[in-house]
Amino acid sequence: MKPIQVGLIGLGTVGAGTFHVLQRNQAEIRGRAGRGIEIAMVAARNAERAKAFQAIVGDGVPCVADPQQLVDNPDIDIVVELIGGIEPARSLVLKAIANGKHVVTANKALLALHGSEIFAAAREKGVTVAFEAAVAGGIPIIKALREGLTANRIEWIAGIINGTTNFILSEMRSKGLDFATVLKEAQRLGYAESDPTFDIEGVDAAHKLTIMSAIAFGVPVQFDKAHVEGISSLQATDIKYAEQLGYRIKLLGITRRRENGFELRVHPTLIPASRLIANVEGAMNAVVVQADAVGTTLYYGKGAGAEPTASAVVADLVDVTRLATADPDHRVPHLAFQPDAMSNTPVLSM
Ligand code: HSE
Repeated sequence: MKPIQVGLIGLGTVGAGTFHVLQRNQAEIRGRAGRGIEIAMVAARNAERAKAFQAIVGDGVPCVADPQQLVDNPDIDIVVELIGGIEPARSLVLKAIANGKHVVTANKALLALHGSEIFAAAREKGVTVAFEAAVAGGIPIIKALREGLTANRIEWIAGIINGTTNFILSEMRSKGLDFATVLKEAQRLGYAESDPTFDIEGVDAAHKLTIMSAIAFGVPVQFDKAHVEGISSLQATDIKYAEQLGYRIKLLGITRRRENGFELRVHPTLIPASRLIANVEGAMNAVVVQADAVGTTLYYGKGAGAEPTASAVVADLVDVTRLATADPDHRVPHLAFQPDAMSNTPVLSM
C-alpha cells in the first residue's frame, strides 16, 4: 500500500525530532501503522527558514515557504502542525480540516483556547485531530486518560507539566543558581516556549491542564476559568526555607472534581520532600491521576525536548494512519505487530 503522505508545518526542535525519529524507526513504525508514513512536504513561514529546513530533510522532500501551499496540497493526507502559537496555526489547522485532512498537533495553546471550534470542525468533516504531544511531551498521558483509564470516574489530576519551570526550580535548589541563568540554559536545551513568560508564569502548564481536564471530565476546554500563578516571584530564599522545613516547591497543575463543578489551578506548591512527586527533578514531568476503580496512578517521563515530544507526535501519526487505513486489522492499536517489521531476533528466555 502507498505510504500515507504527511505534510510537516514547522521544522524547529520538535519538527526536526519528528523527522529523525520517523527516519530512524521507519521499519517498526511501518509495521505498527500497517503502512509506511512518508514526509511528503515541509513548510516554513518564510523563504530563509525553508532553505534551512531543506538542508535538514535533504533534496528528496520539497520545503515550501508558504504553509498554505501544504494544507491545500491534495496529495497530503495528514498535516502535522508544529509552529505553535495561535495564528497562523489556527487558520492552517481549520483549513487542513476543511480540506478533509487529519491533523496532528503539539499546540497546547491552540487547543486550550480554540479546541472546541477545532474539534467541532473535525467532527463535521469526519477527520481526526490528534494531540498527544500537546501535554507532558513524551509521556502518553492523553492515551492513558482516554484509553487506559476509560473505565474510571476520574477524581483529580495533579502534575508537574512544565519542564522549564521544573528545571529552573531543581537547578536553583540543588546548585544554588539564579533564576535568569537557569532560564537561559532551559532555552538553550530547547525546553522553553518561544515566549518563555508562558513557562515561568504558569500559562503553558494551564494550557496543558485545561486539555487534560476536558478529557478527564468530559467538559469543554475552559482555559479562561483556570487560576494561573507562575514561579517568577519565587526567591532563592523561598526554596531554601522550604527545604529547611522538609518541603520542595513545585509548580503543580491541579484539576479536581468538586460538588458543583471542576477546579483548574496552576501555582507553586509546597510538597513534603518524602513524596515521589517532590523528587521529580530537571525537565522531567510527572502526572498523578486519582480514579475510582484503579486508584492512584503515576506517569513520569521527559516533558519537553526534541525526541521525547517527537515520540508523541509519531505515536499520533501511527494512530491516525491506522484509523485512516481501510484494512480493519489496523483500525485499533494491537499487540501483534506486523511481521514485516519484525527482525528475526528471537525473544530470549531468561
Ligand atoms: N515549554 C514546555 C515545557 C515545552 O517546558 O514543558 C513542552 O510543552
